[in-house]
Amino acid sequence: MNILHQSTEFNSFGIDALTLARPDDWHVHVRDGALLKALLPHTAQQFGRAIIMPNLKPPVTTTEQAAAYRKRILAARPTQGPGTAFEPLMTLYLTDNTSPDEIWRARESGFVHGIKLYPAGTTTNSDAGVTDLRHCAVTLEAMQKTSLPLLVHGEVTDPVVDVFDREEVFIDRVLEPLRRDFPALKVVFEHITTRNAVEYVRHADTSLGMLGATITAHHLLLNRNTMLVGGIKPHYYCLPIFKREVHRAALVEAAISGHPRFFLGTDSAPHLKNFKESSCGCAGCYTALHALELYAQTFDEAGALRRLEGFASFHGPDFYGLPRSIDTVTLERSSWTLPENIDIDGMSVVVFKMSKDLSWKLR
Ligand code: DOR
Ligand code: ZN
Repeated sequence: MNILHQSTEFNSFGIDALTLARPDDWHVHVRDGALLKALLPHTAQQFGRAIIMPNLKPPVTTTEQAAAYRKRILAARPTQGPGTAFEPLMTLYLTDNTSPDEIWRARESGFVHGIKLYPAGTTTNSDAGVTDLRHCAVTLEAMQKTSLPLLVHGEVTDPVVDVFDREEVFIDRVLEPLRRDFPALKVVFEHITTRNAVEYVRHADTSLGMLGATITAHHLLLNRNTMLVGGIKPHYYCLPIFKREVHRAALVEAAISGHPRFFLGTDSAPHLKNFKESSCGCAGCYTALHALELYAQTFDEAGALRRLEGFASFHGPDFYGLPRSIDTVTLERSSWTLPENIDIDGMSVVVFKMSKDLSWKLR
């Protein structure tokens, strides 16, 4: 068997196994209650750490709430085997009323690593989000001082803007002015889905605050045709919505480029099957079970397996100012069939699947 460590140069053809520093997930929804208990082990078995999204109902808006949520997450970790050392990196949900004091409390806690901006109305549980960033000026100043990054859901909600254009318009109307007004603000442009976002991040003005971007596995693998042609597939509905092939191709090119501003964030977002298969279905794809395998497949198909470790294991911690993992994981080339669903107390969550089998498996 050809075993490869990422530090060596190679041609991916004929490689059977790949060892890399244990990756982290820089954007995930682990929910709460029964879903958290049943599904957290999937994330914990794949990743060393994960940035935990705060869009619970009610949202996690204070450091005190984040501390309680963190405890519930720690209690849901596996008690043996891989995943026991998983570390949740908490975030707060920004509202029009988040105070600068709350930002200082978050920074002093040591366990809050970012503040999430949901423009009100953009996505799941975003109703309490920000209606206008002008309400947050003093809070954003505190974030600059504390170096707590702003993690942005980058879409506008203006009803006249087409749903496929919402990310592109967000760059001009919100992101660029925000970065100019707060030139020391650290920003993560979350789950980017367009060539426009790739270009914006790649060419970001280095005299402004650090800018990074997460990319999901599902946006690397699928375009909007897969979701809409031959019948609508609700399990591929997520936000930001899948775009044209040209955008998917640009995301792959960014992920495999080795550019340190791009890093892994699954945006795995479980919803119960009946809420997805509904006349008004929820947005989100469940990829936590097999995220690394999905990313490996993408990088392999692009002939760029040697770039996976940077994207999955190094660029994220470097951006967040955290140490790189000293643990490792090994992926093996092996074809396997995923379960259709994860059953949870008589309910189920559908696992993100493509028409083909996966060709990599975490050992
Ligand atoms: O598809 C998504 N699902 N996008 C988001 O922004 C939120 C997430 C969720 O929480 O369900
Ligand atoms: Zn998300």
